[in-house]
Amino acid sequence: MDAIQGFTLAFLEISALLLACITIAVIVAVICMYITDVTQTEQTIRRNYPVIGRFRYFFETLGEFFRQYFFAMDREELPFNRAQRSWVYRSAKNIDSTVAFGSTHPLNRPGDWIFLNGLFPPLDEEVAPTTTISFGLGYARVPYSTDKLFNISAMSFGAISAPAIQALSQGAGEAGIWLNTGEGALSPYHLEGGCDIVFQIGTAKYGVRDEQGRLSDDRLRALAEHPEVCMFELKLSQGAKPGKGGILPGAKVTDVIASTRGIPAGKDSISPNRHPEIDSIGDLLDMLHHIREVTGKPTGFKAVIGSTDWLDEFCLTIHDRGMAYAPDFMTIDSADGGTGAAPQSLIDYMGLPIRKSLPMVVDKLVEYGLRKRIRVICSGKMINPSGVAAALCLGADCVNSARGFMFALGCVQALQCNRNTCPTGITTHDEELQRGLVPAEKARRVASYARNMHHEVEMIAHSCGVREPRQLRRHHAQVINEMGMPESLHELWPEATVREEYRDSPGD
Ligand SMILES: Cc1cc2nc3c(=O)[nH]c(=O)nc-3n(C[C@H](O)[C@H](O)[C@H](O)COP(=O)(O)O)c2cc1C
Repeated sequence: MDAIQGFTLAFLEISALLLACITIAVIVAVICMYITDVTQTEQTIRRNYPVIGRFRYFFETLGEFFRQYFFAMDREELPFNRAQRSWVYRSAKNIDSTVAFGSTHPLNRPGDWIFLNGLFPPLDEEVAPTTTISFGLGYARVPYSTDKLFNISAMSFGAISAPAIQALSQGAGEAGIWLNTGEGALSPYHLEGGCDIVFQIGTAKYGVRDEQGRLSDDRLRALAEHPEVCMFELKLSQGAKPGKGGILPGAKVTDVIASTRGIPAGKDSISPNRHPEIDSIGDLLDMLHHIREVTGKPTGFKAVIGSTDWLDEFCLTIHDRGMAYAPDFMTIDSADGGTGAAPQSLIDYMGLPIRKSLPMVVDKLVEYGLRKRIRVICSGKMINPSGVAAALCLGADCVNSARGFMFALGCVQALQCNRNTCPTGITTHDEELQRGLVPAEKARRVASYARNMHHEVEMIAHSCGVREPRQLRRHHAQVINEMGMPESLHELWPEATVREEYRDSPGD
């Protein structure tokens, strides 16, 4: 009994001593923090509210992870709300995408699309497969054809990780869609899935540059020999940072990325904000023609539309030089496009949104009799079937998505793409964080997302009374205006007609 009492007493004494030590340590730490906080001059909150102000930064960090679970309603979060993301997650996992009881989607939210169902939609046996379209037919030695509507937008190796690219490549191969390399060149990971690849040439010409950083024809030719590389895209600008080149922070420039791009490891990789050799429409058309001649493959360019005064000159110059000088496609990016890293002034305020730029460009090409010669691809927050179907109504041939496929890879929108700390291993080169991203598993999700997207866009088209999605037109959709009322796309942007003088244009 005595022994037990003695043991209990000793245990209590040690516990009390320990507690006293911890309390003293906490008090000392708090005093130190207090002194540090009140004497530092960088952070107002900590200076005004010493010690307790530190929790703000702690909660801010935690908030990035937790707000989506606890605080935001389905349609509140930005840039993508939970309802939009949930559709991607569900379709990527190939689980039931039906919803019960009723829509939580208000029908009066400005900017939302509404589709106009036909009175007599086609029966299952009356629907048609999606039309196959060709790029560069009659102009490139190796034209490219696809019946797919929805493909993977440019994301460079560097901005995203090796396992992310492996998963995208394998998933794209499985779904039969293309994968755009982004401006970070072609890595072995892109080739793993045997998918169609669009090689993007950025302003720094990563992967196709000579020692002086100029475009190397030998490298272009070597790239074009890969059967997977089906098209070349010259990047002029992207929606998130028009007028600014690619930015890859040094922390993300690993040895393998450096060798893929042909640059030093560990240093910021900044591309020029323009192709130094292109400063006119003539230069642009010359360059596109040159790349097509060297590679033999369809060649186009990507840009976000801002000023539009060049569009007439662009079309007129093509007519002057001949159809062989026209781009085989234009990729129009929306001002609200995504990025690995961009300055806030550009990401928030520069360029036109796709709903404005897409119909404008399409109409200009129609007016000048160039619509059949130049395919139009678009991108910008079209991660759900409604966005893709609306883009087809506005005149796009294909839609690209970057962030939709990031969600399919498991992105939780932690908004840390520029910090090498992405918790889902997609935009980080930290191998610990990449461990969670298993390419074979995520490839299945990428493929399912692409397939389910195609399927639901077809469903929207059939409800609108047409046999396949590429028959969608402006009169099939409306957009909610500021008053909360639906307005016809057809009335907002009446479909253009070919000008008299271009009626017999070979591009029409
Ligand atoms: C992580 C990341 C990296 C990107 N890298 C490139 C790039 O290298 N070249 C490019 O033209 N666009 C790049 N983009 C832009 C996308 O290709 C796309 O145009 C834009 O995000 C709009 O599509 P979304 O709204 O479906 O994401 C990148 C976007 C993201 C999110």
